[in-house]
Amino acid sequence: MRTFVCVKTQQLVSRVFSPSAAVRWRAAQSRFLCSSPPDERKSQPSLLRHLTSKLKATGPITVAEYMREVLTNPVAGYYVRNNMLGPDGDFITSPEISQIFGELLGVWIISEWMGAGRPKQLQLVELGPGKGSLASDVLRVFSQLRSVLGETSVSLHLVEVSPALSLIQAQNLTRDCSQEAVSEDELVYRRGTTAAGLPVFWYRRLDDVPAGFSICVAHEFFDALPIHKFQRTQKGWREVMVDIDPDKPDKLRFVVAPSPTMASSTLIQADERRDHVEVCAEGGSVVQQLSRRITEDGGAALIADYGHDGTKTDTFRSFKGHQLHDVLSNPGSADLTADVDFSYLRRKAGGGVACLGPVSQRTFLKNMGIDTRMQVSLHH
Ligand SMILES: C[S@@+](CC[C@H](N)C(=O)[O-])C[C@H]1O[C@@H](n2cnc3c(N)ncnc32)[C@H](O)[C@@H]1O
Repeated sequence: MRTFVCVKTQQLVSRVFSPSAAVRWRAAQSRFLCSSPPDERKSQPSLLRHLTSKLKATGPITVAEYMREVLTNPVAGYYVRNNMLGPDGDFITSPEISQIFGELLGVWIISEWMGAGRPKQLQLVELGPGKGSLASDVLRVFSQLRSVLGETSVSLHLVEVSPALSLIQAQNLTRDCSQEAVSEDELVYRRGTTAAGLPVFWYRRLDDVPAGFSICVAHEFFDALPIHKFQRTQKGWREVMVDIDPDKPDKLRFVVAPSPTMASSTLIQADERRDHVEVCAEGGSVVQQLSRRITEDGGAALIADYGHDGTKTDTFRSFKGHQLHDVLSNPGSADLTADVDFSYLRRKAGGGVACLGPVSQRTFLKNMGIDTRMQVSLHH
């Protein structure tokens, strides 16, 4: 079976709601497990300094480049330095709120595997696993349904850019201390084994995950990938860029490129009707890779994120301490995010895979039996 499913969530709501008791429990558990908390909520002028010297040298940069630097700069990037998930962090996600979300995904994964004829090898791939909570909930379902999986060889493959988060994931998922790769060049930069004996591998990029029948999940991963922003002007489409504010040299501002850029010439659809458009080319390329893997080796992918179907315009925003924050101020100290354009991802998936959705998270969870699962929880 070749499937590719998109699930649209209302994550914006859960990002601003005050945390529930379940969240507090999860957060307390992670703090306990995290021996060297990487949380550095101090201001990080070094990233602003790095960006301003880059801007002085090269001129304005694209929003995509700004977002990439701010979130994943190897030294000072937001995801690289911070432990941002949870009530004490900047935002909360579904897997951190309830274990039921991951458990129902576990049921979906097993049903996809059964529908594909129960291949002997099953690679479970997660993009951007956060604290590892979703994978842990999925693996609990795998343990409970061990008799269904039989002799199938199951392995877990985590694509994570943040060394700090990979350590928290390892502490949540592996039985013993996971091992870090000796050399920076190794594709697998960390490895370990779960309590049930399943091997776990960490990679920086999806490209590095070995070929083979894979079921891939991505929850709130695509919204963190860099977007390009474009503005319709009287002279045609122009890219929105980031530059130094000439009146305040330690501040950044948006400017519109005076002439077409490579991105504005290639990423806008000829029949585009909006006046402002955001395109996540990197997300499109990840989806193309997923599609190719599914076509060549079999499997399925599920993308759960907040997003739209090619209708929204300006969704680029920042969160700090569960509050909206200025996207250009104190870069590296706050999360940057943009709604996922599912119509763009569907186009990029191409015709070789069946693309379903997006459906609302509510519909997906209802179809996966959340009502029955809730009844079971209430009676225990
Ligand atoms: C918003 S968090 C979501 C975490 C988790 N999936 C959840 O729902 O709780 C984004 C995750 O993607 C990772 N990430 C962000 N950009 C990435 C990239 N370019 N490559 C790999 N991982 C990335 C972050 O480090 C983090 O684990």
